[in-house]
Amino acid sequence: MDIANLQLKIQDQVAWIQIDRPTKLNALNKKVLEELHIVFSELRSNTSVRVIVLTGSGEKSFVAGADISEFVEFSQSQGKALSQTGQDQVFTFIEQMNKPVIAAINGFALGGGLELAMSCHVRIASDNARMGLPETSLGVIPGYGGTQRLAHIIGKGRATELILTCQMMTAVQALDYGLVTQVVTQEELLPTAASIAQKILKNSPFALNQAIHAVNALYDENQNGYEVEINAFGTCFGSEDFKEGTQAFLEKRKANFTGN
Ligand code: COA
Repeated sequence: MDIANLQLKIQDQVAWIQIDRPTKLNALNKKVLEELHIVFSELRSNTSVRVIVLTGSGEKSFVAGADISEFVEFSQSQGKALSQTGQDQVFTFIEQMNKPVIAAINGFALGGGLELAMSCHVRIASDNARMGLPETSLGVIPGYGGTQRLAHIIGKGRATELILTCQMMTAVQALDYGLVTQVVTQEELLPTAASIAQKILKNSPFALNQAIHAVNALYDENQNGYEVEINAFGTCFGSEDFKEGTQAFLEKRKANFTGN
């Protein structure tokens, strides 16, 4: 399948994905979602990539939501399938990636756009960014994990109010709520993402994967996060990275991790 709506660049172990449908403010149509699944699947098994940065093309929008024009005629079962497929193939898929994903929110992150950013492990925003879940204004609710992830990240009270009022947050408000960890100028957004990626690249890919897995367990009611942590902690002791990381510390040198 041709990838027509995403730009992918891999440089120095960092994969940069730009959603590239600027005339529709990068809205997520079926094709974009399919392409995201393909690209993230490939990056998952690409051992030369250790960090992924996701952003939107143009100066105006990260992603302005699911493509409304595609689902206006949907039936109940089609609506349910849209939500299920999207969550399985893209949103939960990204959250459960084996390597860190940074969302660089460069403008509107609305509906599915905010849900996409919330599936990523780290979120930063440019000062022009606006974030929100406006779905109830369309007669629907967030369907790509938004009701759950927004409440987890900023708390039930704030999340419910934002979902019920459809109010957009400014970047500064999102920072205040802990939805993003940094707000910078548009020019500084990608350099800031690169700087976070550089910090992550110093660490063990094996341990990063285990850490993502353990943190995610907090949000999985079928798992006891503390038990997941204990097992993941133990698993690290069997890795080459653990041997290398501890040995490098004792030898006062930089660790050379392989991810094994
Ligand atoms: N789905 C489909 N198309 C979308 C879209 C979406 N979610 N968001 C924006 N677009 C399209 C517009 O239809 C328009 O296309 P056109 O030029 O062919 O008419 C183009 O992107 C530009 O958007 P426009 O509305 O003209 O830009 P704006 O600066 O006036 O407003 C927004 C920007 C983001 C406030 C506005 O586009 C908007 O409210 N989008 C929908 C957000 C939403 O409800 N998302 C949740 C979906 S479940």
